[in-house]
Amino acid sequence: MTNFETLRDKYACPCDESTMYEPFLLPVKAEGMKVWFDGDPEPYIDLVLGYSSNNFGHNHPLLVKAAQDAAAKIAQIHSFHTKDKLLLSQYLADKVSKEQPYNVYFDIGGTSVVASAIRLCRSYTKKRYIVCFDGAYHGASQLGASVTDDGFIDKAQYVINNVSDFVIRLPFPGKHTDVTTDDSIRQLEEAIQNNDVAGVIVEPVQGANGFIFPEDDFLPRLREVTESNEVMLIMDEIQVGLGRIGHFFAYQKWGIVPDIVVLSKSLSGGFYPLSAIIARPQLFNSVSSNATAFQSTFNNNPLGINIALKVMEFIENENCLENSMVKGETLLHKLSFLEDSPYISNLRGEGLAIAFDMTEKNAPNQPSKKYAKKLKDVALDEHLIIYSCGRNGDVIKLAPSLMIEDKDIEFIVNKLKIVLEKAGLI
Ligand SMILES: Cc1ncc(COP(=O)(O)O)c(C=O)c1O
Repeated sequence: MTNFETLRDKYACPCDESTMYEPFLLPVKAEGMKVWFDGDPEPYIDLVLGYSSNNFGHNHPLLVKAAQDAAAKIAQIHSFHTKDKLLLSQYLADKVSKEQPYNVYFDIGGTSVVASAIRLCRSYTKKRYIVCFDGAYHGASQLGASVTDDGFIDKAQYVINNVSDFVIRLPFPGKHTDVTTDDSIRQLEEAIQNNDVAGVIVEPVQGANGFIFPEDDFLPRLREVTESNEVMLIMDEIQVGLGRIGHFFAYQKWGIVPDIVVLSKSLSGGFYPLSAIIARPQLFNSVSSNATAFQSTFNNNPLGINIALKVMEFIENENCLENSMVKGETLLHKLSFLEDSPYISNLRGEGLAIAFDMTEKNAPNQPSKKYAKKLKDVALDEHLIIYSCGRNGDVIKLAPSLMIEDKDIEFIVNKLKIVLEKAGLI
């Protein structure tokens, strides 16, 4: 019989995220929030869901059918517009604004559209600097890494690198931090005055940093300052877009309209790594037409795009946004017992983006990576998949399926009670 652990030790890349969980588990089947691992008949409940790339749960039958139909239709072709691509472009552009025009480009994976969005800002403004924020995660390629917080990426691993050139990092005024919108905006104004700033990239709610919601006046003021200084505003919706906080685009909660939106993860329901840049036409038009600016063999892929069109229908027909808001509120309310633990603070959330911080005992200001890991490990023993994240590794994030039902909520709440007790953290 094949020993997969031996195969891992001998052949697998030893420095990717497959090393995150111990013991060695091989997923073999998934459905909704349930995942089955090799040799264990009892399913696990997945509250990570591919870092929000499976927002509608694993393998929803309607989406499996959509993926099968898409594969049977046309899986890959290059250098042609397809009807689906034009329809999806129209759909996404209209979601950003019905009043102002936007163009759309489709690529693969989140990091690539972040990099292209940065290029667009520089190309249009003829300026160089990009402003980003502490705690931000925007990807791990050279350009993506340049605007990602050092807490998430060891930039020394890039060996020969220019990943931090022309980047200015400012504090993010999160609701549970001591940074205020005034601090952050004042520093932004100074940065714009003293440097040639092309764009600002921001996650409307920081994902990798542990669902950090901004102060409510932050995004509107960020929009004001960028607009009045002709600095482009990129909204990174890769993790929290498509319903995670109950809005199609999370930034819509604050009533603003950015110059560029980048999307990926659940855009094709987790069946294809489709990503998109939705940007004002003048940004795309600023790129020289000497050669195509965005080239990739699998860009505009018809398989991913066809599934994404069905995902858009699915979000509407299944009331995913409303479900996210309503069920999220119930779940958050039922999780209030977590705050009785002397090791937990800042239980927060909106929609189905829920998180809390693990701390030293009775010390809400002392983040504890150790207890976050302990909770994650005991949860795994109890067949609950969660993970610890944040710059300090102290945050536990819960990102259930937007299709979550009341019985799932009861199950998760009861399981977390058991986990907390078994971990000795209550
Ligand atoms: C907000 C945000 N931007 C960009 C990325 C990078 O996307 P990818 O991992 O698909 O390259 C991520 C990934 O987690 C993300 O959360």
